[in-house]
Amino acid sequence: MPRRPPKKPDPALDLTWHLLALSALPCPLTPAALFPAAPNAAVELEVGSGKGLFLASASTAAPDRCFLGVEISGGYARMCAGKLARAHANNARIIHGDANLLVRSLLPNACLTGVHVYFPDPWWKARHRKRRVLSDLFLQHAGRVLAPGGLLHIWTDVEEYFDEAVAAAVGTQSFAAPEEETVEPAQHDLDYRTHFERRTRLAGEPVWRARLKRSEAPAAVARVEFPENSQSEPQSPDA
Ligand SMILES: C[S@@+](CC[C@H](N)C(=O)[O-])C[C@H]1O[C@@H](n2cnc3c(N)ncnc32)[C@H](O)[C@@H]1O
Repeated sequence: MPRRPPKKPDPALDLTWHLLALSALPCPLTPAALFPAAPNAAVELEVGSGKGLFLASASTAAPDRCFLGVEISGGYARMCAGKLARAHANNARIIHGDANLLVRSLLPNACLTGVHVYFPDPWWKARHRKRRVLSDLFLQHAGRVLAPGGLLHIWTDVEEYFDEAVAAAVGTQSFAAPEEETVEPAQHDLDYRTHFERRTRLAGEPVWRARLKRSEAPAAVARVEFPENSQSEPQSPDA
């Protein structure tokens, strides 16, 4: 399904708090340091936040937790920041940048209680598959940055991507067996985890959902030091 271009936030909104540039962040980055008003709060990360429905609803529903999003598209990162600013969500911020760089290089071990990946771009063409965000390496680092007992959530409408990603996550040996996540019928127009979940369910199409708990085993990989990474930005296939 093609995506509409992101809406520009109201220029009167001050996005200073909600919108961060990955290139301006310290390395290593302690996520809790981004929420100085709640230094002991648990922090959860959403990868590929798109229009920001998850960050906005989760931060409102759980004011005692902090939510960090990372979004590679500048337009969507700004749209998301605008949504958080309008909601006065002081426990949520969005980073404009590449989730791979953030998770592999900036985040220290065991610094998050949740990693959420909803409807990652499927990159259908065989030659583009290496761009999928749920790669073996990403999943190894997801296991590294999650604290023991932390949860990795994977939801997608692409069954083959789901099966591969869940098998790869289990293969890292950092996660217990996946548990299925279930949803109730929506009670209102925005009662969905994300915008992509909304449009998939409204179209009557299936969604695959799993939650994997970080095991007690020590992290198997080490944080990747700069400058091994680049900040190249692959285009979204349907942007
Ligand atoms: C299909 S959309 C899903 C958006 C949202 N999660 C939802 O379910 O509505 C995938 C999103 O991931 C973002 N994305 C893709 N690769 C990324 C990366 N490496 N780092 C951060 N965001 C990424 C895209 O720009 C896009 O906004």
